[in-house]
Amino acid sequence: MANVFSFQGAKKIVFGQGAVENLPAEIEALHGKRVLFVLDRGLKDVGVAEKVIDVAQRKGIYAVTYDQVTPEPAPSLADAAAALAKERGCDLVVGVGGGSSLDVAKASAMLVKNGGKAEQYIGLETVPERGLPTILIPTTAGTGSEVTFTAVFTMRDKKRKGGINSRFLYPDVALLDPSLTETLPPGPTATTGADALTHAIEGYTSLQGNPMSDLVAREAIRLIGANLGRAVRNGKDREARSNMLLASLMAGLALASAGVGACHALAYPLGAFFDVPHGLANAVLLPYIMEFNLHAAETKYASVATLMDPALSGNRGEVLALASVDIVRTLTQGVGIPQTLTALKIPETAVSDMADMAMTVARPLANNPREVTKEQAMEIYKRAF
Ligand SMILES: [Fe+2]
Repeated sequence: MANVFSFQGAKKIVFGQGAVENLPAEIEALHGKRVLFVLDRGLKDVGVAEKVIDVAQRKGIYAVTYDQVTPEPAPSLADAAAALAKERGCDLVVGVGGGSSLDVAKASAMLVKNGGKAEQYIGLETVPERGLPTILIPTTAGTGSEVTFTAVFTMRDKKRKGGINSRFLYPDVALLDPSLTETLPPGPTATTGADALTHAIEGYTSLQGNPMSDLVAREAIRLIGANLGRAVRNGKDREARSNMLLASLMAGLALASAGVGACHALAYPLGAFFDVPHGLANAVLLPYIMEFNLHAAETKYASVATLMDPALSGNRGEVLALASVDIVRTLTQGVGIPQTLTALKIPETAVSDMADMAMTVARPLANNPREVTKEQAMEIYKRAF
């Protein structure tokens, strides 16, 4: 655990059923008059985007829409959204959707002020100044992007992923309304929920963890253990949806402060090489990484087990740590997540290249409770076939 720690997220968090009605007041508080809405393509079909934009327009706020965001977005999407914001004289950006839309919103707000192209800012603290104010409204319970300082992009031509990581990307407002997640189908509910679980477990076991990140990570793990299955089985289960969105927020705060670990590093090549969605890649690999890490953070993994299944408390730490792997496996399997890389149609011949790329994901690897060599990364992948 670090001696000196910091804990940061969105400047303001607004959470609750119907919270979207607060959007006009939050826009006004940030002196927004002309708003760029950055949206997932799919959100239009289910009416969620209209609902959010309508709330703002009813109060006379001028709205411009960029709705071309696709999963695992290319940096050029942020360039296009920023160009539209400039052309229409927008003074505030609202991101609505999954992690992709929120990331494109963050980056485009930054580009309006700083100029240039999104790809040139990929790295750590490369952004010179704060961009337009941002309000982020997640419609999945997963990425936690509404409270982090990162925007992740996929450069398909270079078979590479990378993030813009800057203190100026922390959103002004994270606005979370569980009713907006009710139309998310079971598949993405499961994979995004598993991504949140990965953030919580990796944040909790991170070498950069601290008392604040532990607190939110533990509560996120507990909430996901109790609610993910329910939210997948019945999307209209309001309590489960609300608890999952809260868990994803808390897991996002844990990740913003403690970072993620080897699971995110090893999941990264699956996205870059084979376009496997981020949440799914993490969900498949998580139990294998936990198995690998087990003895390096036994007490923490023992807590993961009792947080997810309180009936187990009373068992010895070693037994509990082992049980945590089975509990996660049973949970992800129960919500329909494939358990092997074979099921994702990854060729076994790619293992060495994937391990090479995973080794370049330096910060998550440095946070991981156990050091990972290239050979060990290859072993983990092989076990996952
Ligand atoms: Fe993630």
